[in-house]
Amino acid sequence: MRKAFAIAMIALIAMTSVFAQGGAEGTSAVVPNNQKPLVFFNRQPSDPVTGEIDMETMNWNESTYYVGFDAAGGGAVQGQMIVDYLATADPATLDRNGDGIIGYVLCIGDVGHNDSRARTQGIREALGTWAGSTDAGVVQEGSANVGGTQMKVVEIASRAMTGTDGSTWNANAATDAMGNWATQYGDQIDMVVSNNDGMAMGCLQASNYPAGVPIFGYDANADAIEAIGAGQLTGTVSQNVDAQATATLQVLRNLLDGLTGEDVWTKGITEPDQYGNQISATVEYLPETKALLATNTAVTIANWTDYTEGTRDAGISQTEAEPVDVLLTIYNSADNFLSSSYLPALNYYAPLMNINLTIVQGDGQNETSCLDRFTNLGAYDAYAVNMVRTNSGPDYTQRLMY
Ligand code: BGC
Ligand code: CA
Repeated sequence: MRKAFAIAMIALIAMTSVFAQGGAEGTSAVVPNNQKPLVFFNRQPSDPVTGEIDMETMNWNESTYYVGFDAAGGGAVQGQMIVDYLATADPATLDRNGDGIIGYVLCIGDVGHNDSRARTQGIREALGTWAGSTDAGVVQEGSANVGGTQMKVVEIASRAMTGTDGSTWNANAATDAMGNWATQYGDQIDMVVSNNDGMAMGCLQASNYPAGVPIFGYDANADAIEAIGAGQLTGTVSQNVDAQATATLQVLRNLLDGLTGEDVWTKGITEPDQYGNQISATVEYLPETKALLATNTAVTIANWTDYTEGTRDAGISQTEAEPVDVLLTIYNSADNFLSSSYLPALNYYAPLMNINLTIVQGDGQNETSCLDRFTNLGAYDAYAVNMVRTNSGPDYTQRLMY
């Protein structure tokens, strides 16, 4: 009698724990959610004011990582690209009003985002306008070599580019701002700099955009690359979206294949994985922040054809890996970079690695637009998260607690 009762109790406890994990299907039922891989990408868990990395979130469990790109290095690449352009420009053409000053306007993006901040800093440092802050308007007078002549550089205006709906990196806000700047400052504007391509393309949409004024973006989105070829956009920076999308998936694959220690960030990344796959581009690992970072390259009229749409990494081919289910969030369905560059790359590489992605896309302003669909968590083997706000890490880890 007692024995039968004990067996029944054990059976009951076993059943309850399966239900508590939200479902008995697949392999996921045996692993508690809080032990599953969690990879943040594109928006690094960090303080929106200080930029400090949120290590509490990064240390949520052993299988928590961040995949992005070298943001500071990218800011420097963007700054250098502009300096290189100026060095060969004709001062008489560039300086539209002939006042001996190169005036530029800056589209910032999201003041609370590390990528945005790094670019503002990189540009201002390169042009000498950096005054110790990435805020709009905090600048000093700079200088640059323009075709052999040292000229003054002034940041005439800058704006975060928040949309009327509260979303950040907003291209429509950039169109409006550019229209107003062109009206207000006229031929004082000699150059336009934008922290992403979405906003740069937005500026070009302004009906009064001063024709021929050089304009720089960031991301190497397909439409921006075409615009470089067509002579509308002067330059952009590739943050190597293929390397980032592949690295996000590869780290998940490695963790789900049971790899540990440095195998997690080397297999398929700096050396072939068990399927023979390896990302062709350089992806660096920073142990202090558990971050895998792709490198940046400048894209101009000299090399734009290397970046045309559809160039995928030949180092990744179809594997016979065990199929796994991953829930992935994207902070804003309207973000140009994520929807036109990152998502197509994920959709290309995930099937090759036998990763089934369930994708949830938010509205770019309310974390709940993603969190409300960050549910049924027991049904997934792992999670990939692109947060609306960089300090929302705990909102996601809390849900994985049980
Ligand atoms: C990209 C931006 C994008 C942002 C979204 C950045 O790395 O350059 O274009 O809007 O990520 O988080
Ligand atoms: Ca001028």
